[in-house]
Amino acid sequence: MNRKYRKTVIAGNWKMNLLPSDVKAYGEALRQRAGKVKFCDLVVCVPAVSIPAAVKAFRDTRIAVGAQDLSEHASGAYTGEVSAAQLKDAGAKYVIVGHSERRTYHGETNETVNAKLHASIDGGLTPIVCVGETQAQRDMGISKDIIRAQVKTAFYKIPADRARKIIIAYEPVWAIGTGLTATPAEAQEICSEIRAVIRSLYDARIARAVTILYGGSMNPANAAELLAQPDIDGGLIGGASLDAGKFVQVINAANQ
Ligand code: PGA
Repeated sequence: MNRKYRKTVIAGNWKMNLLPSDVKAYGEALRQRAGKVKFCDLVVCVPAVSIPAAVKAFRDTRIAVGAQDLSEHASGAYTGEVSAAQLKDAGAKYVIVGHSERRTYHGETNETVNAKLHASIDGGLTPIVCVGETQAQRDMGISKDIIRAQVKTAFYKIPADRARKIIIAYEPVWAIGTGLTATPAEAQEICSEIRAVIRSLYDARIARAVTILYGGSMNPANAAELLAQPDIDGGLIGGASLDAGKFVQVINAANQ
């Protein structure tokens, strides 16, 4: 973390878990425990149908609500899709873009991710754009090439004043939901590479200001060590965010 230059962000990603009717109890548990957070921004990314309940549950707290995906289109005949404007109107402030599960199960390409990044910014949401290599790519020794291509394509035609507000999450696919975590040194190496790509696309000032998260089996036991790395500015937490108690322990690690 480097709070002098950029924000620390801890974001939960519920994925397709919990019901809208579960949100109230989660909100009460988190509200009690997260009351003392000063040094980091908190986000909980919930299924779209749970956004209104989450907005209500987190009212008057520092916890913002995020969505997990959005349409690349602003409006129109796209049955089943949800636009940035609709998410914003429902109370979301953030949106995850290009999560590896969207890339793997829903055919999202680097180009789709770029279109969705534009749509999220145009719609007034703060995107959390995910990048990460698969186990096979890691074994082939091409992790950095994959990450560079993902970041460069995602940021294509994103103007500098907008780029600095985008949150990037490095989520190695082999670490998501597996209990395997990148070592702090491995995660730092890639996060520093991501910052270097942003520097090459924009400038040193913007690269210094961009918040980069690590995600992939981050939990109370490994959070502090990961967050101690200079280029890791927070976390995107899946499994451990479903339990308010565990999520608070991760938040506490970031709130030092
Ligand atoms: P995990 O998920 O913490 O359960 O590995 C992280 C994510 O996919 O965002």
